[in-house]
Amino acid sequence: MDDTTTALLPPSSPPPRAPGVSVDSYEPKGMSREAFQLLPRKQQKRLMKQELWDARADEFKEKQRQKNRDNRRRRKQRVREGEIAPRRKAEEQVRTGHRFVIDMDFDEKMSETEVKSMCSQVQRCYAANRQASHRVDLHVTQLHGRCRQRFDSALAQHSGWSREHIVIEDKEYPELFPSESLVYLTADSPNVIETLDETKVYVIGGIVDKNRYPGLTLEKAERQGIAHGQLPIGRYVQMSTRKVMTVNQIFEMLLRFVEVPDWKQAFLDVIPARKLDNE
Ligand SMILES: C[S@@+](CC[C@H](N)C(=O)[O-])C[C@H]1O[C@@H](n2cnc3c(N)ncnc32)[C@H](O)[C@@H]1O
Repeated sequence: MDDTTTALLPPSSPPPRAPGVSVDSYEPKGMSREAFQLLPRKQQKRLMKQELWDARADEFKEKQRQKNRDNRRRRKQRVREGEIAPRRKAEEQVRTGHRFVIDMDFDEKMSETEVKSMCSQVQRCYAANRQASHRVDLHVTQLHGRCRQRFDSALAQHSGWSREHIVIEDKEYPELFPSESLVYLTADSPNVIETLDETKVYVIGGIVDKNRYPGLTLEKAERQGIAHGQLPIGRYVQMSTRKVMTVNQIFEMLLRFVEVPDWKQAFLDVIPARKLDNE
């Protein structure tokens, strides 16, 4: 993950605990003690917490900045040691005509933890597109609900992400692309993708579901009357588990295929060794 993009603590983060301070003895900053006492207890607590937070916000922000500096230093070290690829400027990359969408329609189907994981997968996709020798057009569509909230708080730094590497939209993909160009990628499709076509727009289902909803995206593609297909994973590598990948793994495989272009190489570079059946 692009760990230099860690956000400053959002104002919604829990305020620091201040031992020994209670609403009964609290001297509010913004109003008289008498006015404070007339407020409902819940509101007194909220106000006190907010004021205590504001008083120490600079200190916490500085801590977070230091953490970001350390992360950047560590990242540079890993690049120097060849462990990870350097981030590239858009002009240092080959711009391809390949187009991909991450469809964020499934917010309501995920738990809180899955929402967090989904959002960091989007962050990984952005980082991968920045590090690739060949960049592609990446659209995140229908960002809404808890994922949208997370992007507006913990991932608020996304407003600084380069639009050459990711475009985040509220709109749904049928509003952005003609339906004949759309191909929904889904492990449940009977069709197998042979190669990538720059006239098509490949859609990845933006969901973490731990296999709770098999067939979900296939049903959606069929309902919308758009093409669908699975990646030819089984044709090139033996897997010890089901061939359902995470969003960032699929995106990284597609990016790698655009670079190489060789499916076997792309799969072997991305699928974790523990998931490969070496028997
Ligand atoms: C965790 S999977 C979601 C599985 C979900 N049950 C579904 O119906 O798609 C996330 C997304 O990655 C893509 N994906 C995962 N494995 C795939 C495969 N073998 N071939 C094509 N796309 C795949 C699909 O777009 C899928 O929606």
